Amino acid sequence: MDNRPIGIFDSGVGGLTVMREVMEQLPYENIIYLGDTARIPYGSKSEQTIKKYAHQCSAFLKSKNVKTIVVACNTASSVALDQLTENFDIPVIGVIEPGARSASEVTQTGRIGVIGTTATINSYAYQGKIMEYLSTAEVIGIPCPLFVPIVEEGWEYSQVAVLTAEKYLTELIEHDVDALVLGCTHYPILRHTIKRVLGPGVILVNPAFETAKDLKKLLTEKDLLNENYEKPIYEYYATDAPERLRRIGGNFLKKEIDNLHEIAIDNL
Ligand code: DGL
Repeated sequence: MDNRPIGIFDSGVGGLTVMREVMEQLPYENIIYLGDTARIPYGSKSEQTIKKYAHQCSAFLKSKNVKTIVVACNTASSVALDQLTENFDIPVIGVIEPGARSASEVTQTGRIGVIGTTATINSYAYQGKIMEYLSTAEVIGIPCPLFVPIVEEGWEYSQVAVLTAEKYLTELIEHDVDALVLGCTHYPILRHTIKRVLGPGVILVNPAFETAKDLKKLLTEKDLLNENYEKPIYEYYATDAPERLRRIGGNFLKKEIDNLHEIAIDNL
């Protein structure tokens, strides 16, 4: 039994899709969320910079006495997870392994698509992990950077979203994939549009959902679940423009965001 909060961080608002799954699957856990809104996007930055930011975000959460850290950001998980696991003495989990495992389980043909930011796709983290689980898999990775601003504009059902999805995803249709990893925090919000473009034959894998499942398993195994069955406390931090996180975040979290604070990057 451990009533310390779970720490979740992301480059911005997108990680709230992961927090939402954690809230649903672990309804009694206290959570501290950090969105590095001052430095988003991570997806177009270098590995070295992403590693530095991910370390600072994790150190901030650690200073808040969290019992575990969830790296909600696919980009940070792709390039920085190993380093974080080494540098922090609490469990750190990312979204890549759960998403990759699920994709390797649901595919029938072994042809799997992965979409994400440019850094995520270039890191080859998802592709490599999927091959570890299913060595015969044929994995096609496509960076889809424009999906992030489209979702943040609230345009996920628009014609712009459909045309952008058609442009990015045609190659996956040509390769006849039967599973697609939504390898970025924002993409689950676009799932209806993506499904419409790809058709019903492609199973969409949501790493946010799979990660929350893995987190529950980890907390259970390590005896870290909060067995205090009261209304949990949720606390939010943003490194810039917290009001924007509050405004846009509702669409990601499906819940009002209060208890929100600004934390300057110099204080991370
Ligand atoms: N949160 C990032 C991810 O999941 C997307 C936004 C960014 O580029 O920072 O990869």
